[in-house]
Amino acid sequence: MIVAKTLQEFLQAREALSNGNVGFVPTMGALHQGHISLVEHSVEKCKYTVVSIFVNPTQFNNQNDLATYPRTLEADCALLEKSGVDLVFAPGVEDIYPSPDERVFDLGGLDSCGEGPRTPGHFNGVAQVVTRLFDIVKPQFAFFGQKDFQQVAIVKHFTKKLGYGIEIVQCPTLREEDGLAKSSRNTLLTPAQREAAPHIYECIKTAPELMDKMSVAEAVKHLQERINQNSELEVEYIEMVDASTLKPVEKWSDAQEIQLWCAVYARPVRLIDNVKVK
Ligand code: PAF
Repeated sequence: MIVAKTLQEFLQAREALSNGNVGFVPTMGALHQGHISLVEHSVEKCKYTVVSIFVNPTQFNNQNDLATYPRTLEADCALLEKSGVDLVFAPGVEDIYPSPDERVFDLGGLDSCGEGPRTPGHFNGVAQVVTRLFDIVKPQFAFFGQKDFQQVAIVKHFTKKLGYGIEIVQCPTLREEDGLAKSSRNTLLTPAQREAAPHIYECIKTAPELMDKMSVAEAVKHLQERINQNSELEVEYIEMVDASTLKPVEKWSDAQEIQLWCAVYARPVRLIDNVKVK
């Protein structure tokens, strides 16, 4: 496995992978089993697998979150090597943004709710870094986790709209044994918060059962109250959205497929999760 820490090193190493399909897993490092499962999907499907490790400053709208984001490059590389990765791209900011990126992307309105209004600029920053990485890595497939449900939909949208010809593969959310969705941010939780955090999934996974019993608004309120009963947790939002347009639904019959998504604080850490309701 080659670890390229500059653009030049990367481009040189990438040339050696030109005789087969390349699968790409973009990450911000602090890798856990969730990332490794994306890597495994790529290794199975593609001749070569490239992983990027880059904490992208343009997608953080909270400077403290950016500063405290865990950085564990050596451990990450050890994990990737064991998983059969061919090439790691761990660039510096100057490699990705030689000058400030001022591009504004058309996200097709898919950022109008959920994380969109709560983290202004986040998805535009994701589009900036992902398009830049696609231009450099030139993969045939790219793998994203369903834990970031809105992110995958947005990536699919701009990949198609900009004519990249890259297949976006959506992979299932990996969970800890107690149900907590795997996330690099879990390592930032205090022991008490870590113990409390599985309560989020315990509550939201009951959403399908609520459809016969109450309205969408009542279900949202009910789940919010249940999660908030745990003193370590505080719901920022819970929304039920049409899984294809990502617009909130008012009635269960408003969409063929409904996804619940939420953000919950275990302060100062902010956890997100989602489940299919129908
Ligand atoms: O999901 C992430 O870790 C990031 O948003 C991504 C896709 C690597 C872009 O920085």
